[in-house]
Amino acid sequence: MTNFRFTNEHSSAGAADVIDVLRRPRLWIPTEHDYPNHDAWLDKTEAQIASGAKRAMSGYMGNRAIGAVIYRQSPEDLDIVDIRNISVSDDARGRYVGSFLLRNAELEASQIDFPGTREFVVDTKIANTEMIEFLMSHGYSIKEITDLYGLGAGLDAVMAKPVQLV
Ligand SMILES: CC(C)(COP(=O)(O)OP(=O)(O)OC[C@H]1O[C@@H](n2cnc3c(N)ncnc32)[C@H](O)[C@@H]1OP(=O)(O)O)[C@@H](O)C(=O)NCCC(=O)NCCS
Repeated sequence: MTNFRFTNEHSSAGAADVIDVLRRPRLWIPTEHDYPNHDAWLDKTEAQIASGAKRAMSGYMGNRAIGAVIYRQSPEDLDIVDIRNISVSDDARGRYVGSFLLRNAELEASQIDFPGTREFVVDTKIANTEMIEFLMSHGYSIKEITDLYGLGAGLDAVMAKPVQLV
């Protein structure tokens, strides 16, 4: 039997487990090239999850963290929730863990964490067609294609979805 658990409550140790998932090599992303500052971003994000400045909806299989959706209220527009990362471990894919984490991050963000949210926004490299398809199958559409980070690491697709409360 496999025991799954999903939560967005994290102690410091829990934040470290979540970040470990994001540090693992990911199938679709040559991380060093596409996101040159990824390790520094992860270190900062781990502290922000522990302090509550960023939220993580994460999934565990047994005691092992297998995926997370990192989100926060946009500092520029309080009506927007920025989804900052979506990752599921290679060996846990295809079980709808990513779908479950994304939907629950959306509901938790819009109903509990940041009521009044109008829109979810997420960005991904345009080369990451699988992620774009995954997001489209969950109601996101492309708003803009731009070099968001200005690091010469390729174009980013900015994707958005309006909040639809259930
Ligand atoms: C995308 C990702 C989150 C999907 O997680 P998952 O738990 O395997 O996905 P699910 O099982 O919930 O898949 C649900 C749907 O997503 C789509 N999908 C999932 N994997 C896909 C793939 N490899 N290619 C195309 N579509 C895919 C499918 O439509 C699938 O539905 P279906 O099986 O009914 O057709 C996961 O593969 C991942 O972490 N990828 C790398 C993440 C990444 O690039 N992060 C950085 C940018 S934010």
